[in-house]
Amino acid sequence: MKKKPWDGRFREPTDEQVEVFTASVHFDKRLAPYDIEGSIAHTKMLARQRIVSKKEEKTIVAGLRDIFREIERGNFTFHLSDEDIHMAIERALIERVGEVGGKLHTGRSRNDQVSLDARLYLRDEIQRILDLVAALKSSLVELAKRESRTIMPGYTHLQKAQPVLLSHYLLAYWEMLDRDEARLRDGLKRVNVMPLGAAALAGSVLPLDREYTARLLKFPEISRNSMDAVSDRDFVAEFVFVASLIMMHLSRFCEDLIIWSTEEFSFVEISDAFTTGSSIMPQKKNPDVAELIRGKTGRVYGNMITLLTLLKGLPMTYNRDLQEDKEPLFDTMDTVTGCLEIFAGMIKHLRFNRARMQEEAARGFSTATDVADYLVIRGVPFRESHGIVGRLVAYCTGENKGLSDLTIKEFRRFYKGFDEDVYECLQVENAVNARRTLGGTAEKMVLKRIEEIEGGKR
Ligand code: ARG
Repeated sequence: MKKKPWDGRFREPTDEQVEVFTASVHFDKRLAPYDIEGSIAHTKMLARQRIVSKKEEKTIVAGLRDIFREIERGNFTFHLSDEDIHMAIERALIERVGEVGGKLHTGRSRNDQVSLDARLYLRDEIQRILDLVAALKSSLVELAKRESRTIMPGYTHLQKAQPVLLSHYLLAYWEMLDRDEARLRDGLKRVNVMPLGAAALAGSVLPLDREYTARLLKFPEISRNSMDAVSDRDFVAEFVFVASLIMMHLSRFCEDLIIWSTEEFSFVEISDAFTTGSSIMPQKKNPDVAELIRGKTGRVYGNMITLLTLLKGLPMTYNRDLQEDKEPLFDTMDTVTGCLEIFAGMIKHLRFNRARMQEEAARGFSTATDVADYLVIRGVPFRESHGIVGRLVAYCTGENKGLSDLTIKEFRRFYKGFDEDVYECLQVENAVNARRTLGGTAEKMVLKRIEEIEGGKR
């Protein structure tokens, strides 16, 4: 049984099972670079405040840098008996530089240290996600430009509703991702708060210069309440919530792709490289990537529930339960970055069946609202015109006809004021391009939005 840095008051060694049970080093070793970065800044601050000497600072910092290189090269051995990453590094430092290494933890507790590590880690990783989201948004704009005039049926209740442009559909996802990006940036403000100096929970008796540590680690803010600093994991929960929304957005897009790639719809073909086959049915080409993104969304939601449940009953301040925040956080990070990457690859190679989409857009009375609006423009109150067109649709259904199959005489049986120009509003192109309200699906409006986006306007 290894000696523990905290075992001064203990007479018996830790039970072997307890050692395994309480250890987190096998997963929190991922925080190693941040733990070392934080420790170097803390040491520099201690030296500046003359709590350790210049010489001690040099020795400790050099030792930490050596350990960092060793970890990077994969030569560092983590022991379960180290318990966590913080103690593994401190143990290695003392082994390397001797007793002076024991000064590193001056004026610090693992309680403020672990919060610092999580914040440094999240700050880096959120930046990576921001880059992935930005890349995906650009791909969507490119795709929207390629499909700027493709007409598709728009659905509500998964029932054909009104024709829209595929580019308009694609840009709807741009808007969602744009909000996700804004949420990530906003959350970053709450991640970017420096907790060191809170120590165990009450602050420190030593003259720590927290502003200096914050400057070294590029934190624009420092925590203002030591008790809050060591018990707060809002920033973790908040990030996982934003990740849940990103996943939900990808999942909904995937759901459409799954439906659209069925033989029944045949709106889109996902490239071979992003589909898989069946082990029994030779004809199958399955949208497994899209399905897995949809499935993994549930996993990220689960992580969010794990975190919120973890936090809800904790008495102030630090409790060891908080160690359980890391696996859901890391899992969320891996899942969301992995999904963003593969999703971006998948949508770049989508082949839309424009003819099919256009053909389907014209079916199912998709321009019925346009006929109702045609009457409104001629002075008929909307509720009345709604009724007239409803009866027209019922008639067509009985006759097994589409609206454009009707003669003008048939139209006039339902309302005298119908003219030949009613056939114009039955054309899907006209239906699309008539919707020129701000944010509408008319090609003119979609192109305007693309221009705004490319001009950097939100
Ligand atoms: N491994 C711990 C965690 O992740 C670090 C803090 C432990 N602090 C303590 N007083 N036991 O939360």
